[in-house]
Amino acid sequence: MVNLQVREIAVIGSGTMGHGIAEVAAISGFSVHLNDLTLDILQRALNNIRWSLDNLHRKGQLKEEPSEVMSRISVTTSLEDAVKNADFIIEAVFEDFNVKSSIFRRISEYAPPHAILASNTSSIPISELASVTNRPDKVIGMHFFNPPVLMKLIEVVRGDRTSDETVNVTVELGRRLGKEPVVVNKDVPGFISNRVFMRLIEAACLMVTGNEATIEAIDSAARFKLGLPMGVFELIDFVGIDVVNSILKAMVNRGFRFSGCGLIDERVKEGKLGLKTGEGFYKYPEVGKYSRV
Ligand code: NAI
Repeated sequence: MVNLQVREIAVIGSGTMGHGIAEVAAISGFSVHLNDLTLDILQRALNNIRWSLDNLHRKGQLKEEPSEVMSRISVTTSLEDAVKNADFIIEAVFEDFNVKSSIFRRISEYAPPHAILASNTSSIPISELASVTNRPDKVIGMHFFNPPVLMKLIEVVRGDRTSDETVNVTVELGRRLGKEPVVVNKDVPGFISNRVFMRLIEAACLMVTGNEATIEAIDSAARFKLGLPMGVFELIDFVGIDVVNSILKAMVNRGFRFSGCGLIDERVKEGKLGLKTGEGFYKYPEVGKYSRV
């Protein structure tokens, strides 16, 4: 039985994931309050959403005019204004425990008592975020995949104290967003998909550093033999090499055993972070034109 009717959604952080999550929620008919640190960042997010909606519209995949969807999204730099009327809040800021926990503490002060607080974290245990709030039973992981508008999977992650009602509302919301929610009952760092992904990265890195295979050969094998939609290194470039690095660090700090990947460390040091900077494992001469698969 689901008692809470979600009508208004707040999305905190409007970067790669946050703007995509806001777009998905607005397409599904929800009022969305999008929050970030500056109006410039929020304007960039709105431009990205508009660009994506126009593409969907051109392909006949949007039931409404893009402007109607846009009219359901409001932006603000005030965290309090973003969450004060929200039924469901999805946090998508940097993968950094201190940043996220400070936001969770503040959201729990400002949000209505019934509101559910979800994190899009890739690796930080939900129970750790829940512990800084005044409502650990209403804190949950809602892990979207990149780009949210295209990817069907959502990992719904139960923390130690998350209530069944919170899990049910989140699963139902995931379905209303047109996604396939999978409940992760054990709050382990990396949840399901990133634990599997990191093992692929580990194996691929070891093969390259041991001169057993090239980056291109491994990616061809991943695409054409394993049937993955992208190669391992292509996917790291797409996600952001810095993002993958932070996820790995957060997992390793919480006991995940990983043999290291010098290829990632080198590129982070050089600022070659993948598609967003124009170079990572591959080169992307026209930065910006590849922002979506
Ligand atoms: P990003 O770096 O593109 O965006 C983060 C946004 O948060 C930035 O716009 C930043 O200005 C904003 N921000 C930082 N501090 C803030 C604050 N105090 N208040 C409001 N906004 C603030 O990061 P990305 O890639 O969108 O990642 C966000 C979260 O989603 C992370 O937890 C990450 O692990 C997770 N994630 C990322 C995926 C990816 O493919 N990039 C996939 C799935 C999850």
